[in-house]
Amino acid sequence: MTLSGVEERFSLVTIDKEIFINNFSEDVKTGLTSESKYLPFVYFYDHIGSQLFEQICELPEYYLTRTETKILEANADKIASQFSEKTVLVELGSGSSTKTRILIEAFLERQSLAHYTPIDVSHQMLEESSYSLLEAYPDLEINAIAARYNEGIDHLDIKTDQQNLITWLGSSIGNFDRSEVATLLRHIQKIMLPNDRFLVGIDLQKDKTIVENAYNDTQGITAEFNLNLLTHVNRELGGNFDLENFGHKAIYNEKIGRIEMYLISHIDQKVFIRELDLEVSFAANETIHTEHSFKYSLDDIDTLAEETGLYVQEQWFDTERLFSLNLFAPAVD
Ligand code: AVJ
Repeated sequence: MTLSGVEERFSLVTIDKEIFINNFSEDVKTGLTSESKYLPFVYFYDHIGSQLFEQICELPEYYLTRTETKILEANADKIASQFSEKTVLVELGSGSSTKTRILIEAFLERQSLAHYTPIDVSHQMLEESSYSLLEAYPDLEINAIAARYNEGIDHLDIKTDQQNLITWLGSSIGNFDRSEVATLLRHIQKIMLPNDRFLVGIDLQKDKTIVENAYNDTQGITAEFNLNLLTHVNRELGGNFDLENFGHKAIYNEKIGRIEMYLISHIDQKVFIRELDLEVSFAANETIHTEHSFKYSLDDIDTLAEETGLYVQEQWFDTERLFSLNLFAPAVD
């Protein structure tokens, strides 16, 4: 049964568009004038950055995507079987929605219609990925939300006669500090009804070399992805960063259990950013911290659930236990 054309099965709302625009210049100024320089990881994902990230996902060293895909493929049917006909599949940070296809297909195997609500900051990504999904699946309906996580969650229309399966894949959780994650999970737990579930892909703690290789690939794609942040500043804010004078470095901080990414200035140099009317001086070897990505132990995952009114109902791994897929349910009190 075909519902109707692509347009009739698609809606998109955009929330607070201005927030993104204003913050970029503010954030760059704050980050580059701070004692230890940093830039927020969210600005990696301009058009080129998003494409580079897709390339990272295919790298032989980058085990995360491949492993999570395998776990999803092995368990999607079991997951879908726990949900009713009226389930809405909600996805935080949907990006290109590649892995979500596995879940959508599992739902469509069991039911005649599927509902998908992707939440992403990129309006363009939402449109592109939604259209390609709608063309591939005639029995799919998409109500997309262009927003940050919190605003997107608040915009969800939670109905008591339907179940929600909220997903957060790719270990995007790793980009946030433990306290930020706890705040977000509590927010999600608050809007969940007893039968709703939260499916989260979380990268696990492991041997330092495996992690460091994943973020220092031999083809230099991760370096390009990192350096593109400076291109982004040059383009949007009239900066004159010379990419030749910066390098990429990723190191695993075993004490905290996270990979840290930096841009490193090869030389003593000054950079001017016209729109900010700001001159930034770099000493040779000075760094800009651009990202961290936390790796979890199983205890960390349990603790996080406990702190946020959730419990781990089911947990799946790949054979090498590199990565985990976690199904959280609201704890009953
Ligand atoms: C999208 C946050 C999961 O940390 O592994 C990949 C981003 N950065 N390579 C990660 C990223 C460098 C990625 N996440």
